[in-house]
Amino acid sequence: MDYNKIINSAYSTIKLIENHGNIATYIPELAKVDPLKFGVFLQPINKNGCGVGHFNERFSIQSISKILLLTLVYKDVKSDLWKRMSFEPSGDAFNSLVQLEVEKGIPRNPLINAGAIVLCDILLDLYSNPKKVFLDFVRKLAANNSIDYNTAIYKSEKETGFTNYAIAYMIKSNKNLKNKVDDVLDLYFYACAIEMTCEELSNTCLLFANQGVIVGSDERILSKSRNKRVNAIMQTCGFYDEAGQFAFKVGLPGKSGVGGGIIAINPNKYSVAVWSPKLNIKGNSVKGMKFLELLTNETGSVF
Ligand code: DON
Repeated sequence: MDYNKIINSAYSTIKLIENHGNIATYIPELAKVDPLKFGVFLQPINKNGCGVGHFNERFSIQSISKILLLTLVYKDVKSDLWKRMSFEPSGDAFNSLVQLEVEKGIPRNPLINAGAIVLCDILLDLYSNPKKVFLDFVRKLAANNSIDYNTAIYKSEKETGFTNYAIAYMIKSNKNLKNKVDDVLDLYFYACAIEMTCEELSNTCLLFANQGVIVGSDERILSKSRNKRVNAIMQTCGFYDEAGQFAFKVGLPGKSGVGGGIIAINPNKYSVAVWSPKLNIKGNSVKGMKFLELLTNETGSVF
């Protein structure tokens, strides 16, 4: 399979389409991004990767960090994670409070804001310096010690992320948050503010295509069965109330972020990262989704 040829051809096609999406502005600092950026990087598990466009520029990974938070918790959590949250698709917006109230502070899944906030609470219990542990973990997956968070974006969301404060207090009032709301959200905003290029993101997430083992160092992070489950959760919950669309059109496990990034995993084959900041009304990258649809149409079977 000539991935280089395929991604170049899909990129040229998608580059030309009219994009009616909008960049995320509810985090003021995110509104500064150039809406016309468009980059792609595809990293196979067993050969060199290939990129097109702005694949070498860093962007805010935002909610994509939720799969990394989940992996850090899930890799060695002994207690029953699935008592603190469920693993069902929500069919609701990423920051919705509706189900959370009805379901008494138990988030539907780890990839909506509520679920990731509970993951952060667990990490605060597990580690005395969870921000450092998280960053070190991401750097290890990426095999890249220069990965970092963006201070301005972190501060901007800390000052304006009122819906997340509401979500965290709703969970707290239902006794599913052990630590202080401010401390939990501090880690959550930090994780969302991590920046990566498409190339770095596809390398960081390559373990999900490689049955839970880091390609290169051969270190196992997730057991085969837990890795399968992380992919299953991405497939069913990674795009919130658009998870069905993404499964129907692209057919791969994936995760989006309001920075305009998407990571998608083709198990035993590759991981692919796309970045284009204009989002549809569900908060997912318009061109990112279209590009991935074309990619899997072109390559045929997805699994
Ligand atoms: O909590 C938030 O609203 C953002 N830090 C992350 C949301 C996000 O990326 C949703 N993804 N499409």
